[in-house]
Amino acid sequence: MSTNVLYAREPSLPVADFRRVLVESGLGAIRAVDDAARLQSILDGSNFIVTARRDRPGGELIGVARGMNDGAWACYVADLAVAKVAQGLGVGKGLLDEARRQLGPRVSLILVSVPDAVGFYERAGMTPLPHCFWYKRTA
Ligand SMILES: CC(C)(COP(=O)(O)OP(=O)(O)OC[C@H]1O[C@@H](n2cnc3c(N)ncnc32)[C@H](O)[C@@H]1OP(=O)(O)O)[C@@H](O)C(=O)NCCC(=O)NCCS
Repeated sequence: MSTNVLYAREPSLPVADFRRVLVESGLGAIRAVDDAARLQSILDGSNFIVTARRDRPGGELIGVARGMNDGAWACYVADLAVAKVAQGLGVGKGLLDEARRQLGPRVSLILVSVPDAVGFYERAGMTPLPHCFWYKRTA
């Protein structure tokens, strides 16, 4: 599968594609996939979107990494999702690798894992941060 996957920056990812991959990955259960305006705002506010598509530009979207990158210090990845049909084939790791390649050595990639994905990030060699804090959204 990995040899047939095309990774690319897609700053104008269509919201329908984004929604579909969230749903097809399972992440849609904990994302605002039924609020089209909010989902569009999420994309509009994300300046770092890396996609995985089958075979060619414009091919079937099978994965996405979405974040906010200041370009010089930190990129916060808020979504990483691979469609279930393509999970376990290296696409998630491929998205992380491509994101790191695009960010370069000066920018940290930071994210909050869902409990089920902790092993994936450990396997990918990411360092867990024991001192993370957040104010959780309330709406
Ligand atoms: C988590 C997710 C992004 C991983 O993507 P993926 O394409 O399935 O993972 P990969 O095939 O690239 O896996 C790379 C390695 O991690 C391992 N791995 C994958 N998912 C794992 C998990 N949940 N727990 C432990 N290890 C995992 C794989 O076995 C593989 O190991 P290997 O190098 O020994 O072969 C994907 O399963 C997904 O979208 N899940 C649902 C949404 C989600 O939880 N997203 C993360 C939000 S924080």
